[in-house]
Amino acid sequence: MVRLLQEQDIVIATELSAEAGWNQTADDWRMLLRLNPENCFGIEFDGRLVSTATLSCYGRKLAWIGMVLTNRAYQRRGFARTLLLHAIARADQLGVESLKLDATDQGQPLYESLGFRVEQPVQRWWRTPQAGGAALQPANFLDHDMEAYKADRSELLRALMQRSNVQTSPDGFCLSRPGRRANYVGPCVARNADFARHSIQACAQEESYWDLLPQNPAALALATELGFTEKRKLIRMVRGRDLRGREGWIYAIAGFELG
Ligand SMILES: CC(C)(COP(=O)(O)OP(=O)(O)OC[C@H]1O[C@@H](n2cnc3c(N)ncnc32)[C@H](O)[C@@H]1OP(=O)(O)O)[C@@H](O)C(=O)NCCC(=O)NCCS
Repeated sequence: MVRLLQEQDIVIATELSAEAGWNQTADDWRMLLRLNPENCFGIEFDGRLVSTATLSCYGRKLAWIGMVLTNRAYQRRGFARTLLLHAIARADQLGVESLKLDATDQGQPLYESLGFRVEQPVQRWWRTPQAGGAALQPANFLDHDMEAYKADRSELLRALMQRSNVQTSPDGFCLSRPGRRANYVGPCVARNADFARHSIQACAQEESYWDLLPQNPAALALATELGFTEKRKLIRMVRGRDLRGREGWIYAIAGFELG
């Protein structure tokens, strides 16, 4: 029943994420499929794609499950569970040590039943359009991300940079990209709040979403200072080995579907 998602599925997949009210665009789906051609799964029923799940691998240390969606008319038939079992088996086959995801309230019981444990909350904040700061100077951003996540997300970051507004400096980096509902700010990895403040201001001139880890008090304080308000709560969950990086540097995640 489970099959790989392909380029021609992007239209329906984007309809699924839009139906759930999510912010991802067709370009977000396209990037997931391009980066993980063997790890994005779907179930077809009645001749149409009705359920999806994606697995983004960051080396063997970490992989991220995202885009777990079932068409409303086909829910509670075990489709998401089947796809999750498939994605977990694939991660095991690849030798992934730590498998994570950001769970909605709807998804959390399903993940718990599959052995995921709560790690920490993750929150979406939102702000209306505002004038921003100046562009910053380029610098090597990969080391900062590696330190913050303790996994190699360089392939993802390079792909995101091609389609993002990019702010970098020796103190960190911040990206933003178009979303279906609002500009998406993230990832932002910063050694200090000053860089995060300047780069997020520069990235959030339109109406924006910003997903952060509220256990990083500096990120929480900055979101409030910059006039964002909390909009959604999810729960970050992990299966396999616990893996925590320097989360004090993580001001914005890359996306609920990406980590
Ligand atoms: C969360 C979501 C993906 C679940 O999809 P689904 O295909 O309905 O999930 P499943 O059918 O595999 O399992 C969901 C529930 O149906 C139950 N179920 C499975 N097969 C069933 C059957 N034949 N009859 C009745 N119930 C069944 C499961 O036990 C599970 O119950 P529980 O939630 O009480 O534990 C779906 O509700 C959705 O798309 N929600 C919006 C997007 C979202 O929040 N996604 C999660 C992101 S983290």
